[in-house]
Amino acid sequence: MKISKKIFGVLSSGKKAYLYILKAGDMSLSVTNFGAHWVSLFAPSRNGRKDDILLGYSTLDGYTRNKPYLGATIGRFGNRIGDGRFSLDGTEYRLYKNDGPHSLHGGRRGFDKLLWKAESYEERGGVFVRFELVSPDGDEGYPGTLKAAVSYGLTKSNEIIADYQAAVDAPCPVNLTNHAYFNLAGEGAGDILFHRARLYASSYAAVDESLIPTGALTPVQDTPFDFRTAKPISRDLAAAGGGYDHCFVVDGDSGTLRPCAEVSDPRSGRIMRVFTTQPGLQFYTGNFLDGVTGKAGSVYGKHAGFCLETQHFPDSPNRKEFPPAIFGPDRDYHEKALFSFDWQ
Ligand code: BGC
Repeated sequence: MKISKKIFGVLSSGKKAYLYILKAGDMSLSVTNFGAHWVSLFAPSRNGRKDDILLGYSTLDGYTRNKPYLGATIGRFGNRIGDGRFSLDGTEYRLYKNDGPHSLHGGRRGFDKLLWKAESYEERGGVFVRFELVSPDGDEGYPGTLKAAVSYGLTKSNEIIADYQAAVDAPCPVNLTNHAYFNLAGEGAGDILFHRARLYASSYAAVDESLIPTGALTPVQDTPFDFRTAKPISRDLAAAGGGYDHCFVVDGDSGTLRPCAEVSDPRSGRIMRVFTTQPGLQFYTGNFLDGVTGKAGSVYGKHAGFCLETQHFPDSPNRKEFPPAIFGPDRDYHEKALFSFDWQ
């Protein structure tokens, strides 16, 4: 196992951002403290060929202008808050609307655009980086001073462990996640529609045309959203409206780390299994990627990658029927996710 650190670039503020390269098992993961982004993930194929399976950019500059949130850590609230507002104890809070009428992924300057404090360490058969930041009261319209601590690590058994914690001194919606886009055939190697996906979800949150949940949790049975048995992502894509961008309700008990997804690439033999403590999983097939210039000249078009964002349900602060995503002085936020990799 090995941890190395180097300067990734200098921000317009003059501050330096660092790249941490974690090596363990057969893989290597690099992350930066700018936006706590996952930058690259090298994994072997069944023939021993190592490819970078994360969409991203070669330089820090790309991450400062990262419209699709490639690899970003998202906060304070992942996905959309309808109409950019919510009420708590009779007070209405207004957020920045960066997605038509809605607020998306924390607003104008979410956690993906902040420079985090970072510290690397070795522990429990893995190499980790712990990122911390303080989001002041009123940041992006959210109440309370929030302290976030997110750690990402790579283990000797080829797993990424993600741990998300936050403490906030006033009631506030919190929904942290990572927005990695994977292509198990290698970033830049075409689209992911031939990957096979299995999702451990018997229902999903139905959405309106602006992707805000209607409140209905619809059974997947007899719909294009049924991934309970593995199938190619392409199989029912057209019937699903040309792409998936939906929050699936993960089977089993939230709060316990349980399987939520398994995706495999038949060509390279790479398999990724995802586990979460969260109630939901946003399965997003890169529908809005529109020719983004990525690493070393790669161009990411529609479906060039997929995301599996472990999270609370979108727009939870406005949906009393959803699992509560309000945290505060009496309720700290703590969630975990695990991504395990194999090649056969
Ligand atoms: C959302 C998509 C959005 C993408 C990039 C995903 O989490 O569900 O609708 O386009 O993030 O912002």
